[in-house]
Amino acid sequence: MNAANFGGNPQERARNPNAVRYPVAKLSDLPPGTMRAFEVGSRTILVLNLDGELHALNGICSHAYSELAKGFFAGDLVTCALHLSQFDVRTGEPISPPATEAIAKYALAVDEGVILVDIPD
Ligand code: FES
Repeated sequence: MNAANFGGNPQERARNPNAVRYPVAKLSDLPPGTMRAFEVGSRTILVLNLDGELHALNGICSHAYSELAKGFFAGDLVTCALHLSQFDVRTGEPISPPATEAIAKYALAVDEGVILVDIPD
């Protein structure tokens, strides 16, 4: 496994035995300060590179249907383009209204330059 910073806390990083690990992108395709959405099964997963620290969130806003990849990523916040709620990239927690619910976070890993996201069954 390549050296990389994995987002979130150690418990989150522990692999969920009921999760399926999906390759989503090459690490080189996601430079620091960028985000990209990937379709994984029926889900949209948003992967963000926060200064080398990778995070995977549900790619759909918790307030209404809006793809977060169409919003803005600055500092450690992602902003929904529809009503401008902001979410903490590290936790998925909403920072500003109208969203009140956190966005789901997913464990991830990097293996041989490939970003792998664990999606619960
Ligand atoms: S849909 Fe994202 S803030 Fe309303």
